[in-house]
Amino acid sequence: MSQALDENKIGGLGVSRKRVEDNRFIRGRGNYTDDIVLPGMLHMEILRSPLAHARIKSIDTSRAWEIPGVRLVLTGEMAATRNLAWMPTLSYDTQAVLATDKVRFQGQEVACVVADDPYIAKDACEAIDVEYEPLPVIVNPEQAVAEGAPLIRDDKAGQADNVVYRWEVGDQAGTDAAFEHAAVVSKLRLHYPRSHPSPIECCGSVADFDRATGKLTVYMTTQAPHIIRAAVAMVAELPEHLIRIISPDIGGGFGNKVPVYPGYVCSILCSILLERPVKWIEDKTGNLISTGFARDMYLDGELALRADGKILGVRMHAEADHGAFFADAQPSKFKIGLLHSTFACYNVPAAHLTARGTYTNKAPGGVAYRCSFRVTEAMFFQERMVHQAAKDLGLDPAEFRRRNFVRADAFPYRTPFGFLVDSGQPEACLDVGLKAVGYEDFLRQKEEARRRGRRLGIGISTMTEPLGAGNSREYDILGIKMFDSAELRVHMTGKALLRVGAKSQGQGHETTWAQIVSHELGIPADDVTVEEGDTDTAPFGMGTYASRSTPVAGAAISMVSRKIRAKARKLAAHLLEVSEEDLEWELGRFSVRGVPEHGVTIQECAMAAYGNMPDGMEPGLENHAYYDPPNLTWPFAVYIVTVEVDPETGVWDVLNTVAVDDCGVRINPMIVEGQIMGGLTEAYAMANMQFITFDAEGNCVGSNYMDYLLPTAWETPGFELHSEVVTPSPHHPIGAKGVGECAAVGGPAAFVNAVMDALDDTGVRNIDMPLLPDRVWEALTQHHDVS
Ligand code: CDP
Repeated sequence: MSQALDENKIGGLGVSRKRVEDNRFIRGRGNYTDDIVLPGMLHMEILRSPLAHARIKSIDTSRAWEIPGVRLVLTGEMAATRNLAWMPTLSYDTQAVLATDKVRFQGQEVACVVADDPYIAKDACEAIDVEYEPLPVIVNPEQAVAEGAPLIRDDKAGQADNVVYRWEVGDQAGTDAAFEHAAVVSKLRLHYPRSHPSPIECCGSVADFDRATGKLTVYMTTQAPHIIRAAVAMVAELPEHLIRIISPDIGGGFGNKVPVYPGYVCSILCSILLERPVKWIEDKTGNLISTGFARDMYLDGELALRADGKILGVRMHAEADHGAFFADAQPSKFKIGLLHSTFACYNVPAAHLTARGTYTNKAPGGVAYRCSFRVTEAMFFQERMVHQAAKDLGLDPAEFRRRNFVRADAFPYRTPFGFLVDSGQPEACLDVGLKAVGYEDFLRQKEEARRRGRRLGIGISTMTEPLGAGNSREYDILGIKMFDSAELRVHMTGKALLRVGAKSQGQGHETTWAQIVSHELGIPADDVTVEEGDTDTAPFGMGTYASRSTPVAGAAISMVSRKIRAKARKLAAHLLEVSEEDLEWELGRFSVRGVPEHGVTIQECAMAAYGNMPDGMEPGLENHAYYDPPNLTWPFAVYIVTVEVDPETGVWDVLNTVAVDDCGVRINPMIVEGQIMGGLTEAYAMANMQFITFDAEGNCVGSNYMDYLLPTAWETPGFELHSEVVTPSPHHPIGAKGVGECAAVGGPAAFVNAVMDALDDTGVRNIDMPLLPDRVWEALTQHHDVS
């Protein structure tokens, strides 16, 4: 009789195991960067520019130096003596660490002060006198490329204008031909506005340079500790073993903690100069106005349509506002990220995309906020276009999607932009969503309500998105290929230590990674300790963003577990005195084929690895795996939202939100649901309330959390989640696809489409996000688009 373990009891795959990290988080026992206190530690604060574009005429630090407790006042000029006034960015640009020549956005770092406590440092910042000569300000791409526009990046040799890049992909001639055959051409101009990832914990670092050993240790809030170590090693020309980056617990990242910020570099330089640990913790406003913003993209789209609703071609032009420095991370081949993943779930014969990135006098933009490098903009564009095209044709938007979906039996499907979408069941997911929301019934209610002067609307968003960069053939950052890693050490008692190259910021990796080991080896999840984020101990990995952890690091965990199992098989054969071929594996145990009661557990194999190994076998039971995925993973999602718009005020309420997510095999269904709910909450916030912009002088409007609204439980609507459709990834060892960002990527269009649907008799084609009541009201009463 089989003695296999019950996977549900040991916390394996598919178990909604409670999050083990929450034991410390909900007790206030997390260990965040600001919790790090080192002997002799000093505190650093940053002086930021009040102006968006100005020449620096002089900086007088003498008053600041006189304040008791001040240890160092650092300016760009001083940093320049160490060749650190500027630093390279993750996208092959340069960024000022401390401004020397000009300031280029409001909030830019101008100087910093190190003092005995943060309050003295802050006061001393205010005692620094900077004389500025204001320059004309550019706040959008149109101004950036206008005739006679002032040159923002005059620091860059050969930079004659404000263009960062021009990029193009697809088949222009084929697309032009498709448009010639179109019965209808549907057009939209959209702006995906700036938004900010706004993690609860701001950025920060504690740098500790030890002159005796020459070792630099930096505790910092980074999603990618090994990339930071590589960057420091390359810039400082130091060997990696003299640099230790420790990313402790992180209070939310959402892409905000991928770039390298000047504050990190300043704390390192100050620690080297003072030979004392230096802590820098950003305040909320500093985080909101100066660290990586997301989106800010103008999208012009055209769909060539046959009268029966078939999409013949897509044209797209994107203008991306990158702010003063191109500082966010991109796979180096793709200047505007994976924007060309748009329309990947639709069968589109021809497509062409052009893109231009510009510098403006705004904080660096374009970070992948809960997003795989611009796929949020790609899917928003796609789903807004699809909604409007259906309306232009007089077709039902659900039916229009169905007619154009890639059929389940047509995968793997090569998109016109070159992606290979390997799997999915778009129609099955849509069916589940439509049934759950009661689609036909709602359409009847909508008509009935309209007759009574009420405005109901329904919005759909369906998408597949590419999650899990690499493979290394296509994807690299700064030339470092995108793969990931895991190292597994099974101790003699059968307990295990798993170290991974990813880095959780709240996603629950400590819980779910142990479940993968449990599934592969039958070691109870509670016996597996997971560690991430310390470059001295974790294997080299590219970190966590773009929902890549499960597709890449998760796969590495499976692979290393399988290597351990292969060695355990040899040990079992030795213990049972049979050949390996005569063994059968069942969860947690090897047994002799045909004699199931004659077997050994994985724990007995572990003990033998240290005390009873066969002659010639290397002792121990540990290994590592580097995983380079053959493809991205392609989850599919359907989000459907129903709303009621108040015609008197423009206020809109969400009546129902249905989410159908097919992310392949779910490791931990409860955690997946949490990810989806979090993503939908952010999607709702972007569509409904989050407004941050810049006035003509480059002042950041909405630069505090009284104005830039984060949704609380009070205003967040309820969500109905569905998991009926499961299409395993064909190449992932356990069939899992990424999911962390899906709802934040696909959700916004569903909310906007719902409001636009409620206004579908007004002639209004678009209201730009956020759909604040005054914008909706303007559209309703004046019957024009609102941007
Ligand atoms: O890279 P990131 O962790 O942000 O995103 P992810 O790989 O999509 O994973 C987010 C969380 O959901 C992790 O704790 C995963 O282990 C979990 N997950 C899961 O349980 N099953 C999946 N198919 C995908 C993710």
